[in-house]
Amino acid sequence: MSGGFSAEWLAARAVWDRAARSPKVEGALVQWAEGRREPLRVLDLGAGTGNNQRHLAPLLKMPCDWCLADSDAALLAGAVGNAALKADDRISVREIDLAASDIGPLLEGVDLVAASALFDLVSADWLDRFLDAVTARGSALLAVLTYDGRIDIEGDREEAENLEALVNDHQHGDKGFGPALGPGAHPALVEGLRVRGYRVEEGASDWSLAAGDPGARELVEGWVSAAGEIAPLDREEIAAWGVALLARPETRIYVGHRDLFAVPLS
Ligand SMILES: C[S@@+](CC[C@H](N)C(=O)[O-])C[C@H]1O[C@@H](n2cnc3c(N)ncnc32)[C@H](O)[C@@H]1O
Repeated sequence: MSGGFSAEWLAARAVWDRAARSPKVEGALVQWAEGRREPLRVLDLGAGTGNNQRHLAPLLKMPCDWCLADSDAALLAGAVGNAALKADDRISVREIDLAASDIGPLLEGVDLVAASALFDLVSADWLDRFLDAVTARGSALLAVLTYDGRIDIEGDREEAENLEALVNDHQHGDKGFGPALGPGAHPALVEGLRVRGYRVEEGASDWSLAAGDPGARELVEGWVSAAGEIAPLDREEIAAWGVALLARPETRIYVGHRDLFAVPLS
C-alpha cells in the first residue's frame, strides 16, 4: 500500500473505471490527437499501476512517448511491467511527490497531461499552481474519474445520503496536498481551465457495481472507516450498515465521477 492505494484495489477499480469513462470526453481526446506531431508526448500524473496508460494507449493511434509519474515506486514498477505499448511507443517513469515538487520541469514538451482519479486528492492552492503551469505551456489536459460527491445504494437512499455527507466531509481532509478539494475538484478544474482560456469538454463517468464485486468490500470498508472518523459516536451503527450491505451481494452501488478534456481555445 501507499497512501491507501494497493495494487489490488487499483486493479479492482480499473474494471469500474473502464465501463464508466465518458465516451464524449474520449471522443474529444481522440479527435484532438489525430494529426498531432509524433510521437505524442503524454504525461500521466498519479499513474499508479498504469490503468490510465493501458486504457489510453489503444485510443491514441500514433506513436506515444509515455511518462508515468507517481510517488509510489512499487506501483510504478507494476505499471512498466504491464504497460500497453504499440510498436513505436516508449515509456519512462518518474518517482516524484507531486505535492512537494515543482511540476514545471515535468511538463516541458508535454502535449497531453493525463490523470485518472487524482484531482479529488489535491488542494485548491496546488490545483491553481498546476493549472498555471499546464496552461502556460499550452498542453492539453485529460482529467478522468474525479469523484463528484454522489453515492447511491439501491433501495437504501436515506442511508446512502447519510453516508455520502460523512464521506464527503472526510474527502476534504489532507491527502498529502493540504486540505483536499474532494467533490469540489471537478468544478474547480472546469472553472480554472475556462478562466485560463481553455475549452472544456466534460461528461459523467459514474461507477455502477454490485456489492459482491471484487473490490466492493474495500470500497465499502473505506467509506465505513472514513464516516466513522467524522462521526465517532455513530461508528458501530455505520459499521453494522456496511456489514449488512456487503451481505447483499446483488445490491447495486453507484458512485458519481466526472471526466474532462481541455485544450487552449486558440
Ligand atoms: C486513486 S489512485 C489512481 C491511480 C491511477 N491513476 C488509476 O487510475 O488507477 C491515486 C494515485 O495517486 C498517487 N499519488 C497520491 N499522492 C501523490 C503525490 N503526492 N505524488 C505523486 N503521486 C501521488 C498514488 O500513489 C496513486 O497511485
